Amino acid sequence: MARVLVGVTGGVAAIKVPHLLRLLRGAGHEVRVLATPRALEFVTPLSLAVAAGSEVATEEAWFRPEGGALHIELARWAEVVLVAPATADALAKAALGLADDLLSATLLAGARRVAWAPAMNEAMWLAPQTQAHVERLKALGHAVFGPGYGPLAAVGEGEGWGRMLEPEELLERLNALLTPKDLEGLRLLVSAGPTREYLDPVRFLSNPSSGRQGYAVAEAARDRGAEVVLVSGPTCLPDPWGVEVVRVESALEMRQAILERFAWAEAVVMAAAVADYRPKEVLRDKEPKAAEAKTLHLVPNPDILKELGEQKGNKVLVGFAMETQEGLERAKGKLQRKNLDLIVLNWVSREGVGFGSPENEVVLLLRDGQVLALPRMAKRQVADRILDFVRTFWKA
Ligand code: C5P
Repeated sequence: MARVLVGVTGGVAAIKVPHLLRLLRGAGHEVRVLATPRALEFVTPLSLAVAAGSEVATEEAWFRPEGGALHIELARWAEVVLVAPATADALAKAALGLADDLLSATLLAGARRVAWAPAMNEAMWLAPQTQAHVERLKALGHAVFGPGYGPLAAVGEGEGWGRMLEPEELLERLNALLTPKDLEGLRLLVSAGPTREYLDPVRFLSNPSSGRQGYAVAEAARDRGAEVVLVSGPTCLPDPWGVEVVRVESALEMRQAILERFAWAEAVVMAAAVADYRPKEVLRDKEPKAAEAKTLHLVPNPDILKELGEQKGNKVLVGFAMETQEGLERAKGKLQRKNLDLIVLNWVSREGVGFGSPENEVVLLLRDGQVLALPRMAKRQVADRILDFVRTFWKA
């Protein structure tokens, strides 16, 4: 958790800043806010102050006799300055080192880390001047979050590049920025979600996997500096930013997508709930309903992870086991049979964990026989614990 100074400049996206401030505080960050006079045309000092839980630093406050060194004080206090929304003007000033207002002076006064959330009309964003300033700021080590694509504020403008990222995504990006990069250089392949095994064009066999645990692994690894490819079965989850996402449906498609990338990867976390069987034949047309009972002929799907285990080399391999009984013994068997470094045992039958839930309660079984029962925790925390072991094996 960090001391975050949010700098607000004059764009309509400033109306989203109170929500951003609440999210930052909710995530445990200590927050202060600085607003330019133009920003205060869009959002009131009171709503910013209430959401931040602290007074708003303004030009006026700076120019009071006792406010003389406010820019120095703010620059020293903040572990990171997030400028959101950031106008083209604010970016330009910082790139050039101008310091004629409280925000630009604070940035010049030695702010340790700076992140920008640009928000402007597409033409202004794409203007070579703005792009040059952004390049300059990146070269100075500043982070730039977005902008995103979508409807622009000006009437009749339609869609374009230039929207400020949503507050939820800004929080994710900021947390990622603050995360130590202990997996820098790791090439990680993650699988997630269920597979669908079609009987005909509209019917399939599947399972209730939400993909959350695998996505959490992909996101946590990205934040820790890894290069991540996520092969995902059908899920309702949005593609995580900063991760290459490959969408597949069936076990056979998943197998192909994974095998194609296996040579590239240094570690694989196989969190997908791959269907063990598929219908022997897939009908081209939808079969009409009939009154009598029906027998479905199934054939086994290839075990992707077992295949990876057979050509493991010095890659790190992590599997999951979802069990309802005799979990430890079965998981141990899979760890050995599939030649894994680590297997993550999930309990299907416990309430509030596993399939679809934001939390998980797992047991980690390691190659050397160690067994580690973790308490119930967020899937993101489980992901970090798994990645701690991936790191150890990768470095070994
Ligand atoms: O044998 P079981 O299906 O329980 O093993 C689970 C582990 O194996 C998971 O990591 C899963 O992603 C992987 N698996 C696979 N291919 C299959 C079935 C499971 O890679 N056909």
